[in-house]
Formats: sequence, C-alpha cells, structure tokens
Amino acid sequence: MTYIAVIGHGVVGSGVVDVLDQNREGIAHRAKEEIAVKYILDLRDFNNLPYAKKFIKDFSVIENDPEVSIVVECIGGINPAFDYIRRSLLAGKSVVTSNKELVAEKGQELLQLAKERNLNFLFEASVGGGIPIIRPLSQCMAANEVLEIAGILNGTTNFILTKMIKDNMSFDDALKLAQELGDAERDPSSDVDGHDACRKICILASLAFERHVYPNQVHTEGIRNITLQDVAYANAWGGSIKLLGTVKKCADNRLDMCVAPMLVSYDNQLSRVDDVFNAILCRGNATGDVIFYGRGAGKLPTASAVVADVIDCVKHVNARKYLYWGTGDNWLVRDPDLQQTALYIRLSGRSAYELRAAVDMAYGKDLMINADGSENEAAFITPVMGMSDHNRILDSLREKGITVENALRVFGDQ
Ligand code: HSE
Repeated sequence: MTYIAVIGHGVVGSGVVDVLDQNREGIAHRAKEEIAVKYILDLRDFNNLPYAKKFIKDFSVIENDPEVSIVVECIGGINPAFDYIRRSLLAGKSVVTSNKELVAEKGQELLQLAKERNLNFLFEASVGGGIPIIRPLSQCMAANEVLEIAGILNGTTNFILTKMIKDNMSFDDALKLAQELGDAERDPSSDVDGHDACRKICILASLAFERHVYPNQVHTEGIRNITLQDVAYANAWGGSIKLLGTVKKCADNRLDMCVAPMLVSYDNQLSRVDDVFNAILCRGNATGDVIFYGRGAGKLPTASAVVADVIDCVKHVNARKYLYWGTGDNWLVRDPDLQQTALYIRLSGRSAYELRAAVDMAYGKDLMINADGSENEAAFITPVMGMSDHNRILDSLREKGITVENALRVFGDQ
C-alpha cells in the first residue's frame, strides 16, 4: 500500500480524490500497488464528506509521517505551495503538482532538490490539463531536437475568442458568459492578459530546451483589445485569431518567445481549435509536426493527469524518472524586437483613401484586406519583417495622424 497526502480540496484536489476512488482497482493494477489517500490538507471544513476524517489543517502532520511517500499539491500559487513542496522533498517524499505558476517560477529549484534526494517531482497537469504533453515531450520526443512549440494553452481565452468568432459576441459579453458558465474566474486577468499561457509556454520551453525560462523573460500580450472588426478582417484574410504561446530555437541557440493573440490561417489546424479546448503543436527535427489536443482544464481531466503522475511515482520509487532542466540565463530569450513576423494592422484615419495611400507609401505595395469595414478604417497584412522595423513604420504612420487601432502577429513559418 502506498499512502499519499493531497494538499488542497478545490476543483483539482477533490478531483484527484474522486479519480483515485472511482478507478481504484484499475489504478492498483497499473501501479502494482494500492494507493490510499491518508490526509487531505485544507483550511476549510468538509464535515459532510464520507472521508471527512482525513482532513487536517497542519502541514507538519504530513511532513512528519513517514508512511506518506507522495505529496500531491493542488492549491496553486507560489506561497505556501513552494514551502510545502520543498519541505515534502526534504522529508524524502516525492511530489506531484498541477501548479503551473509554481513550476514556471520555481521549477528548476524543485527539480534540483528532487534530483539531489533521488525523488520525483512531476507536473503533467500543469500544462494542458488532461492533455498528455510533459511526458510525451520529455520521453516520446526525446530522440528529437525540438525546433518549435506553439500552443493554445488557455481554455478561458479560447472560449471567449470562439464566442467572438462564431457568435459575433463582443469581448465583454463573451467574458461575462464565460464567468456565468464557470469557465472564467471572477478576476479573469491572469487568463485574459496572457499570464497563464505565459507560465505554460515557459514550462514547455524549459523542458524542451533544458534551461529554465522565467515568465518575466517572455513578451506577453492578452486579448482585451481584440474587437469584432479584427475578427471580421481575420476571417476575410482567411484565418482566425487565437491566443498563442510560442517558442522557437534560433540559429544562435537562443529562443524567440512570445504570448500574444495572433492571426492563424485556416490552413493551420490550430485555427480550428475551439471553445475551452487546448492544442499544442511541437515540431521535432525527426518527427516533424506533432499536435496534442484535448481538454486543457476541468476537474476530472486535470485530476487524470495528476493521478497518472502519482502512479508513475509509485512505479519509480527507487528509480527516479528523468525529468530535469538546468538554471536559466538572461541571454537565453532574445529581445522581442529581433523577432521576424508578418503583422496584421488595422488603422483608422480621415478616409480609406488616405489610409491606403499611407500604407502604399510605407510598404511600397497594396496590402489591403477587403472586408466590410467602415469608411475611415483599413486593415492589411505586412510582409515578414523584424519587430523593430514594424515599430518604426507604425510610428511613422502615427506621425501622419493615423491611429493604429491594432497590430497582431501572423502565425506561420518565418
Ligand atoms: N485558467 C486556465 C485556463 C485553467 O483557462 O486554461 C487551466 O490551467
């Protein structure tokens, strides 16, 4: 029998207890041992639950119980999660977490500690919820040099954008609907401002390129400024707007990284990933493109990934799984001004004629997207150029009294 402790009885933590209970026999068969929850740590009371007796409020009970060999952390955030995980590892217990913020900020320290103690620190559920991605990337693609990863990594923003694209809802109405359905938090900023997707692409980049990438190294934009006009122009161009997290290895071994809403051509499968679904495209030098698709959030999908990690810990008690990356470095992520991309740009000014003339002059050709925009508005797709060149041209348009309403990257091979 293996005894585990679950920290946090929110959506994911309670899902972990449910999955372990519902699939007990199959899990015991696959782990070659029964797995029992000995403690659940939560500050709230859950007296009505059949397993109410397992609840405790003091972490040191778990820390000091040698019978508990695996700690599952599902509280989220950095503190006190970091302290609990560190103390668990120091006490000789393997740790499984779904906490993307913690792994993105502290993953290297905790992996190092786990390595020194010959323990496991696993976090399959931290990216893509129920989608297998950490294990496939670190094991199944281990024979590859990973060249690029691009993902729709946040279900809330994908739901909002889908409602804008398919049902012509404004951003505000789509966000309100997501909140009513429980798909968005009351404070939605970490989702809609791109921070959640940023943490996830940092974890994937750290894993693929074996050095810790921190969220504050990655240029991050959210979706608050996407309008129905942008959605319509994207459609007229032949694609949809998706919030993507991207990382690409450059020739000098540094990384180009970005989280931003981008135009994705209908030819690319990512353009058709809708609602709360996530999808992650990994390009390996041997595999070519591989896409992972599924439910990126939710109680049971996320719990499924957590419990799979618990089973792996049980099976690897004396033979640590290899999951590791080295320390980070300031030079690792390139200045975003150096990134090469095409941009979608929407302008407004005195007349469509003035806008067309200004764009023709700036780029030397007619690039307009024809859509039913208003008289004094225009949108176009630029050639692929460095971001610093784009910014120079945008400044020159502003100097002519033209308003740059929006400028979004176009996702593709650059
Ligand atoms: N807020 C996240 C999302 C939950 O919307 O994708 C899963 O990490």
